[in-house]
Amino acid sequence: MFYETAKNNHGLPFNPFKSCVVPRPIGWVSTVSHDGIINLAPFSMFNQLNYDPPFVCFSGSNRTGTGQRKDSVTNAEETGEFVVNMATYELREQINVTSQFVDPDVDEFELAGLNKIPSKLVRPPRVAESPIHLECKYHGTWTLPANRRHSAHHVVIGEVVGIHIRDDVIGADGKIDIKKIRPLARLGYMDYTSVTEVFTMQTQGNPAGQIGEAVAKVKLAV
Ligand SMILES: Cc1cc2nc3c(=O)[nH]c(=O)nc-3n(C[C@H](O)[C@H](O)[C@H](O)COP(=O)(O)O)c2cc1C
Repeated sequence: MFYETAKNNHGLPFNPFKSCVVPRPIGWVSTVSHDGIINLAPFSMFNQLNYDPPFVCFSGSNRTGTGQRKDSVTNAEETGEFVVNMATYELREQINVTSQFVDPDVDEFELAGLNKIPSKLVRPPRVAESPIHLECKYHGTWTLPANRRHSAHHVVIGEVVGIHIRDDVIGADGKIDIKKIRPLARLGYMDYTSVTEVFTMQTQGNPAGQIGEAVAKVKLAV
């Protein structure tokens, strides 16, 4: 089949686009507002952008109806900081709770019964129950047009300035134990997946990546 996105003439009961780029990792973003109110929300329009230095991005679409910007976007822009907490299968229900549309003065950590731990380089706290946290400094926003009136998608880009990895998810081989973490990802529709299987293949086209890995091995061996 083929369809034109502008015409949306796929003839299927649901728009298939979100299932065409999968699985999408979920950035669970904590921020603090200008007035000091803490915020937490999941974003599956999220990814790494580079690794030297490391950048990440998340995209917050304006709210349907009100056209209001997402609090996470406003907070990151106004305070210049955010934290990405790794979303895991174990935390799936809490992640869902933090996606609720609530007044900006509601702290979603409390709503979901999650504990906060302070960050080292930025003000937004980390989700204690999450195994990996990326402390980010705001870099910029890339605003994309939306088809809905008075709407837009704000792609917030941040430089990762500090990374926390819980010791128990680092295996004896010095690598992050992905199967232990079971990172959560979206598949389109209301479907999710989590990583339960890993396979290894030597990279052919990116020798620099292999060198990076080798350097890491040497460092570990010292
Ligand atoms: C798993 C998951 C992924 C989501 N991904 C996005 C996303 O990529 N962009 C977006 O605008 N909203 C996304 N949402 C909805 C937001 O989390 C929700 O609108 C939330 O209330 C935003 O909170 P905020 O206004 O405090 O930033 C997602 C929800 C869930 C459950």
